[in-house]
Amino acid sequence: MTVNITAEETAKQRGFIKKCAEMNARREAPPTAHVHTFGCQQNVSDGEKIKGMLAEMGCGFSETPEGADIIIFNTCAVRGNAEDRVFGNLGALKHEKRRNPDVVIGVCGCMVQQEHIVDKIKRSFPHVDLVFGTNALHTLPELVYRQLTERKREFYVPRGDGVIAEGLPVLRENALKASIPIMYGCNNFCTYCIVPYVRGRERSRKTEDILAEAEAAVQGGARELLLLGQNVNSYGKELGTDFPSLLRAINDIDGEFRICYMSSHPKDATRELIDAIAECEKVTRHFHLPVQSGSSRVLGLMNRHYSREDYLKIVGYIRERIPGAALTSDIIVGFPGETREDFEETLSLIREVRFDSLYTFIYSPRKGTRAAEMPDPVTAEEKGEWFRELLDVQSEIGRGLYEKYVGQTLRVLCEGEGRTDPNLLTGKTPQDVIVDFDGDKSLIGRFVDVKIERAYQWALTGRIV
Ligand code: 5AD
Ligand code: SF4
Repeated sequence: MTVNITAEETAKQRGFIKKCAEMNARREAPPTAHVHTFGCQQNVSDGEKIKGMLAEMGCGFSETPEGADIIIFNTCAVRGNAEDRVFGNLGALKHEKRRNPDVVIGVCGCMVQQEHIVDKIKRSFPHVDLVFGTNALHTLPELVYRQLTERKREFYVPRGDGVIAEGLPVLRENALKASIPIMYGCNNFCTYCIVPYVRGRERSRKTEDILAEAEAAVQGGARELLLLGQNVNSYGKELGTDFPSLLRAINDIDGEFRICYMSSHPKDATRELIDAIAECEKVTRHFHLPVQSGSSRVLGLMNRHYSREDYLKIVGYIRERIPGAALTSDIIVGFPGETREDFEETLSLIREVRFDSLYTFIYSPRKGTRAAEMPDPVTAEEKGEWFRELLDVQSEIGRGLYEKYVGQTLRVLCEGEGRTDPNLLTGKTPQDVIVDFDGDKSLIGRFVDVKIERAYQWALTGRIV
């Protein structure tokens, strides 16, 4: 069952924030914190809450761990290489602890929701002082207070289906873009995926809480709202509402801003949702719809609840209702038992759909998931070859794909200085495509109409009209 963190509990944590702030104010200089977030947007959003709480405790922030008073690693468990990276970085902190024994080193996020990982940290990373799970994020003030006063090693990973904690401070990484979680957790249990085990059951925030946060963000200058959830398409099921209704309500907020969302699950990408998106002018014209495989047989093994044909129907409807919408996807290569024939179905699907871009992954077994128990006869070398073949096919498809934008005038959110040339400005089109263009820096944070003049493989250039 979902636990809503009570106002009393939040008030108690605010009390700890105050106590830490008082202790920190007595120091010669304010403490610095280094927060390193790995993984997806959900984690980035958690990282902004961690920073929000630490800022209110009086911390400044540093980009590197050297010399920091508090170091927090906010970890990702989605693939083995994400975990390896965390362990590598964590090992390197040994030297930092030797240099500065007073530093508090904390590890949180998806990785530490797994018992074998906590055991490994206990055994092999004695310099880690504090471990706290995804359900314990809101207790950070209390945990930090105890570190400042008692300095005992603490592991706090509460079990359960997950919590919703409202009213935590947030320190946004980017003033123009506000990440707003709308739901947490996942009930889908795709057989390869660790997320349901580390993020708990699906639970949605109340619409009124989301709207209040969205309105405040827009009033505070945000021009892009990123609605977050492991599967936003199933928002609100337990509240008697749904994602299309939420999109319409946010679309009705006054002001010019853009609405993005991630991630989506094709099984819940209904016609009603696509209609709502078509009618909401603030919602991006970009669908990130992870297909994972082009083989219905493999999709069955993955427990995805849609077939290749279902997916193609959804794509067809998107293209009919919103011509010109960009489409991107995630693909896993080398799922256990995937054959050459299955893989070729993936190639044929991406040729048929012609995605604007792809996020591609080699299957990584995750302890505790069903796929990790399935026979997996294909060698790593062969999977590597398939993977490279997939990249080649996609890069062939991607060539010239942006030519269609040349000559069009698109509404662009100006985000900052040009990536290639600081004399230019850069922004994104409604399809989420990068555009560089000439203009005055005072336009940063505003929407401008840009006529597209040239297309490159990954970006466009144009001129303000
Ligand atoms: N191995 C490889 N890729 C994975 N993903 C999720 N779990 C795994 C795994 N065990 C990919 C999926 C998902 C994306 C976020 O990460 O493609 O959509
Ligand atoms: Fe990583 Fe998934 Fe957790 Fe995000 S939700 S941090 S991708 S494991």
